[in-house]
Amino acid sequence: MKINGKHHRTIWVEADGWSVGIIDQTRLPHRFETLRLTSLDETARAISTMQVRGAPLIGATAAYGVCLALRADASDEGLEHAYAVLLATRPTAINLKWALDEMVASVRNRPREERVAAAYARAAEIADEDVAINQAIGLHGAKLIEAAAAKKPGKPVNVLTHCNAGWLATVDWGTALAPIYTAYEQGIPLHVWVDETRPRNQGASLTAWELVNHGIPHTVIADNTGGHLMQHGMVDMVIVGTDRVTATGDVCNKIGTYLKALAAKDNDVPFYVGLPSPTIDFTVADGVAEIPIEQRGAEEQSTMTGLTADGRIETVTIVPKGSAVANYGFDVTPARLVTALVTERGLLPATREGLAQAFPERAAEGARLARPIAAE
Ligand code: MRU
Repeated sequence: MKINGKHHRTIWVEADGWSVGIIDQTRLPHRFETLRLTSLDETARAISTMQVRGAPLIGATAAYGVCLALRADASDEGLEHAYAVLLATRPTAINLKWALDEMVASVRNRPREERVAAAYARAAEIADEDVAINQAIGLHGAKLIEAAAAKKPGKPVNVLTHCNAGWLATVDWGTALAPIYTAYEQGIPLHVWVDETRPRNQGASLTAWELVNHGIPHTVIADNTGGHLMQHGMVDMVIVGTDRVTATGDVCNKIGTYLKALAAKDNDVPFYVGLPSPTIDFTVADGVAEIPIEQRGAEEQSTMTGLTADGRIETVTIVPKGSAVANYGFDVTPARLVTALVTERGLLPATREGLAQAFPERAAEGARLARPIAAE
């Protein structure tokens, strides 16, 4: 996507041909700064501190992290170490494991001297595939917005989204926001309600920044506002992204998504999920019971970071000393609350059958891995 007329992806190989460039998302929306990653440890830190975040971008970054690790040590032990270090950075987004498995498969059976080049080639493919997948999600999802627009001629379609599942969360285009960008470019009038998304404020800081830069009408709301808007007919559809979807269609996403899905159900508002296939985990069936929910540091909840009147970025404390604080990063929306999954292969029902029919190759592999060893 473009910033000040210049096209950017969220991750790239620098002109030196090996180090990896990223946008430091912890500085947005107030500063646009890029960083250069040169080692496995720097890459792991960038993911765990959320300089890069969003399930697809976490996967692509981890892929390049393997490249950087292999430059230093292309042995089997080096590969295993990189896999373990990167896998431990964020537990919920399954794209991380997917990308690491892809990287291991692409280098494991090669001699050491070929591994670095093979790794960079596969990481570039993973990044390009992500862009193509998201463009396809955009085209399929835009049809939903077009259909909603046809029901209210001359008026904008109001889409509510939670967290940031735009281009910053991916390599380009985004998942939940790809249909919005595509519909906007098709000339469909729309307006986006942006949940601020405490505690890290990915909606207020990142989604709003993307939409401002693209010129798309939007309004930032407190996280608790969506239900009220839905009761008053001010939301035509909800579109969110996801960090992991089970084989049965349960959707894990940023904390607070479940409450939006409940409100949408109660108000007959369709609830859609932008879902790239690497985000499907065919090895798990029950999202609430089986998906590990990341718990992050208390300081994310007890503080707020923003721009002061004289242009400094500062962090202030908003919770009294002595209060306990909990910071659950994600929740699970059961499949029964999901109207449809918007994938690169079209709209799917959030069911085991729907997912398995659309992605038979992944479903078969997932079932094999999920089978208990005793049953083999
Ligand atoms: O913790 P983050 O910022 O990495 O989480 C990202 C999300 O949960 C987003 O909501 C998104 O929908 C999933 S990534 C496309």
